[in-house]
Amino acid sequence: MRIDIVSIFPGYLEPLNLSLIGSAQRAGLLDIRVHDLRQWTHDRHRSVDDTPYGGGAGMVMRPEPWGEALDALTDTDATPDRPHLVVPSPGGRVFNQDVAGSLATEPWLAFACGRYEGIDERVIDQAGEMMPVSVLSLGDYVLGGGEVAALAMVEAITRLVPGVIGNEESLTEESHTGGLLEYPVYTKPPRWRGREVPAVLRSGHHEAIQQWRTQQRRQRTAERRPDLVAPTGNALRLTGALDHRGDLLIAPATAADAGELLTLARACWLAEAREQDSFLIPALTEDLDDVLTWMAQWRTWVVRMDGRIIGSVRARRAGRNWDIGRLMVAPDVQGCGLGRALMEHAEGAAPTELTGFTVFTGAHSTRNERLYRRAGYQVSGHSDFRGEATVELYKPRPSSRLQ
Ligand code: ADE
Repeated sequence: MRIDIVSIFPGYLEPLNLSLIGSAQRAGLLDIRVHDLRQWTHDRHRSVDDTPYGGGAGMVMRPEPWGEALDALTDTDATPDRPHLVVPSPGGRVFNQDVAGSLATEPWLAFACGRYEGIDERVIDQAGEMMPVSVLSLGDYVLGGGEVAALAMVEAITRLVPGVIGNEESLTEESHTGGLLEYPVYTKPPRWRGREVPAVLRSGHHEAIQQWRTQQRRQRTAERRPDLVAPTGNALRLTGALDHRGDLLIAPATAADAGELLTLARACWLAEAREQDSFLIPALTEDLDDVLTWMAQWRTWVVRMDGRIIGSVRARRAGRNWDIGRLMVAPDVQGCGLGRALMEHAEGAAPTELTGFTVFTGAHSTRNERLYRRAGYQVSGHSDFRGEATVELYKPRPSSRLQ
């Protein structure tokens, strides 16, 4: 993975030469390039900031050096590829383990570390026309600039890149994997200052240890992070036309959503029914009870915009695979990247031991098939479901570190 970081304080990024990330760079797994923004200034003072239009406190980073910096990074003669640009900002969407996991699959990231009151917005707007851009916040507090945030994000992302961590098993049970915090850990001696290591951990009983650890993870999460136990929703990573809606949340569906899901399915599969000249498509023939029945058997997520459900997807285990389906995007927001983001979310929720993803679609659903192919799926079979010809598509889980 290549990572470019642009900052007016390149020295802030020096810790990236230490520890695991330093070793990964020396091993050729990471190619981290830190750039001084001031090399793209042309005045005597090498100035990078100016007063804000409209008044107000502080200074704003000027667009010209940033524009030149991004042009230099994406110089088309050198490479046709584009990085995924991350702009750390307290005004961004929250960076979390899901976002880290998703960015870890990118071959090339670039970080634009702003200072002062931030970077002239036109830089971010223009960059968005050339490459995917994510404005991300470490949390609800304000740092002096984007450098510390970039350091934290680079560390969280790169440790998920295959090969960077020696013991990749440790990734599967750490905090925030599977939406839970980590269980407490102990080492020798068995008794320290009158405190014993929990007996179950010394029992050698593997299954009992697993049960104890899972119970500890749940208890700890409920106590320390009740928001994770009953999530109000995670920010959905959107890079398409809905990206400006940084407030779109994806949340587990509840039974109360069944009616809306039924309506959404009608709206979504109508075009397909017309195309096939048949309304005998499962998603169109089911009633409210059917929806409630499958909701009890699948994990289902919904995305709301201005109060209404605009997208949904469901998934469940099928042997060694994670079966993803009922991908729905409301007709008026189709083509905005929501379907892709829903697929990525559903894939990201797959239990760690599963090895691949499967999706089914009608044999004539060319639009769906195209979306799945773009997401890396390939046709793996044809079958007949209640009289309807269906196509099965399969994608192996991208990284073996998760297995
Ligand atoms: N820059 C300043 N504060 C920040 C924060 N909380 N997250 C990311 N970048 C920042």
